Amino acid sequence: PVLVVDFGAQYAQLIARRVREASVYSEVVPHTATVEEIVARKPAAVILSGGPSSVYADGAPQLDPRLFDHDIPVFGICYGFQAMAGALGGTVTHTGTREYGRTQLSVDGGVLHEGLPTTQPVWMSHGDAVTDAPQGFEVTATSAGAPVAAFEDRARRLAGVQYHPEVLHSPHGQQVLTRFLREIAGIAPTWTAANIAEALIEQVQEQIGATGKAICGLSGGVDSAVAAALVQRAIGDRLTCVFVDHGLLRAGEREQVQQDFVASTGAKLITVDAVDTFLTELDGVSDPEAKRKIIGREFIRSFEGAVTEVLGESVAHGEAVEFLVQGTLYPDVVESGGGAGTANIKSHHNVGGLPEDLQFALVEPLRLLFKDEVRAVGRALGLPEEIVARQPFPGPGLAIRIVGEVTRERLDLLRQADAIAREELTAAGLDGQIWQCPVVLLADVRSVGVQGDGRTYGHPIVLRPVSSEDAMTADWTRLPYEVLERISTRITNEVPDVNRVVLDVTSKPPGTIEWE
Ligand code: XMP
Repeated sequence: PVLVVDFGAQYAQLIARRVREASVYSEVVPHTATVEEIVARKPAAVILSGGPSSVYADGAPQLDPRLFDHDIPVFGICYGFQAMAGALGGTVTHTGTREYGRTQLSVDGGVLHEGLPTTQPVWMSHGDAVTDAPQGFEVTATSAGAPVAAFEDRARRLAGVQYHPEVLHSPHGQQVLTRFLREIAGIAPTWTAANIAEALIEQVQEQIGATGKAICGLSGGVDSAVAAALVQRAIGDRLTCVFVDHGLLRAGEREQVQQDFVASTGAKLITVDAVDTFLTELDGVSDPEAKRKIIGREFIRSFEGAVTEVLGESVAHGEAVEFLVQGTLYPDVVESGGGAGTANIKSHHNVGGLPEDLQFALVEPLRLLFKDEVRAVGRALGLPEEIVARQPFPGPGLAIRIVGEVTRERLDLLRQADAIAREELTAAGLDGQIWQCPVVLLADVRSVGVQGDGRTYGHPIVLRPVSSEDAMTADWTRLPYEVLERISTRITNEVPDVNRVVLDVTSKPPGTIEWE
């Protein structure tokens, strides 16, 4: 792998993702990893990430210079660039002037920026600056605040840049990273969807063995569908998929799982109809956390019921279900690993949550993948676009999109409004620009309206279209007025008891994506 050493800024994960976009496998390691630990991983290259604003800051993480004794290609970014310069005998000066934001970079030769514009905008964020490159390095770019803004030593396969190539504000950054990987480190682009799928299928076969059985909870979402499809390829009918219909789904979702998923994978599926139970338990509850807790608990109960059924059957055949498949992704793994002290903003209920008293081994075939890679693998496995390109949808479903108590009638209203919004967004070709668009019913709010000759007193529907790369931060999507107009007209005309449509123009932070 290419190892990204995380010096504590929020950029390390993004760098790993960009490396993978260049078809090279990459993982994040903490800066506390020793040189021995790094070398033991046999990295194809090491990338040193950005970090605190100054290498002279109190408690600034240090770089062990012995990293450079092992003939490993190394690329330094921002703080990592300065740490690298310092460790190799260059000079890092505490200039006192901060260079922050969009900056012009002047390129002068070198391999990193070959074929790219000689002046180009880049994203900077630093206080100190490298004023002398270490011996053997060629200085290949400068900026107003960084006399050495890029350097490279091709013979030793070392290079670095002061700016952040991983962010979109550096428009040529991805090309620069790719050039480092290909031209300086000499790494072949083998991390492709088909190769990933093949490798993962083999890993699953190894883990589950020739007779093991597995069970997988399907939510209708991309992650669980792709995880299940991989495991199905690996062990065939020894996998049983369980789909709990809690009645909080959007229009057409149950059919999508029962028809499209089964048709494209041939997987064995059990559907649990738990609508009545969920709605009874949710009766009279309007507090968001209470809703989530009830849904989480009931989900596990229904899932366990189905598992017991499967277990009973296989016990009769002298076998047992031993493995539970989950669609955990890499960001969850990184975040829960480094999650010391992270506040519990909302208790996320992951569909397929592990029932505590059932002893399963976990199979998490996607635990090293990012969302876009999961989609690519899904396509490589032949899953239909309706499943693979699906927007994220929360486990607790429409229950957390009804502000107020959840009732059958309200769910029906919201389902209709949601279907209209989705239909119009798709028709306008906007799906690619939107991360997701929650449609929210403010069930406890009424406003006065006029329709036909009469006064109405109905509920508002909120549209919450957001753009995001990972749901950690998000911006509201600037949808065309004509599309908003069509959605608004149709919802107020077609959905009974809704007389107003409003647009949520809050970014995250401060708002979360969902309303509850
Ligand atoms: P928030 O509202 O926290 O949402 O900004 C971030 C992303 O997570 C989804 N979400 C959930 N997904 N169980 C899930 O599986 C949950 O309880 C849950 N709550 C929010 C949300 O749709 C968005 O994509």
